[in-house]
Amino acid sequence: MVRTGVLVSGEGTNLQAIIDAKASGKINNCELAAVVSSKPDARALQRASSAGIPGYVVDKPSYPDRMAFTLAILDTLQRADIELVVYAGFNFILEQPMIDAFRNRMINIHPTLIPSFCGMGYYGLRVHEAVLAHGVKLTGATAHFVNEIADDGPIILQKAVPVIEGDTPQTLQRRVMEEAEWIILPQAISLYCEGRLVINGRIVSIST
Ligand code: GAR
Repeated sequence: MVRTGVLVSGEGTNLQAIIDAKASGKINNCELAAVVSSKPDARALQRASSAGIPGYVVDKPSYPDRMAFTLAILDTLQRADIELVVYAGFNFILEQPMIDAFRNRMINIHPTLIPSFCGMGYYGLRVHEAVLAHGVKLTGATAHFVNEIADDGPIILQKAVPVIEGDTPQTLQRRVMEEAEWIILPQAISLYCEGRLVINGRIVSIST
């Protein structure tokens, strides 16, 4: 079983999708061993507790800078003996020690079709506001490995979702979550835990 730690910052609907997918047998060979929240009052922590997963808080404002915050997250994950780290609505970019410790062992979900509408500053509802302002007709979600650059690592899975006339950032966010994020993130985790993801430079292949 791959001991998996999930990083969260807010609602935790992606965490819930992971918990539900695991409970219904859609994620193989994975143990949800830790949920680490950057906020003490994140709803995601309640979801972890209801599912019996140990929850930890690494409260961003209590650290002087991003490096200290990174080292605290890293320490929490290593003490919990985590092998795979999943960024599920985690709003921060972490420093190099995290990349060095978990290279090719970190998966992020981003709520667009990367490389569109991604990178520094694109998170949460802001992403969907930018999609609507640009007038694109298709958006979606991307599950990818995390590297040094925001939303740049090798792509594992993507799923497209239509933009519908009259969408607000909220309606679009919900459709992207329901039709894409909550499906491909559990799938990507299962593929990793089954040892089926092969990374060659930027290209990820799925072995049978
Ligand atoms: C999700 O839409 C996730 O893809 C997005 O934040 C939301 C968190 O929701 N993440 C990013 O924008 C990261 N760049 P959740 O807490 O309910 O899972």
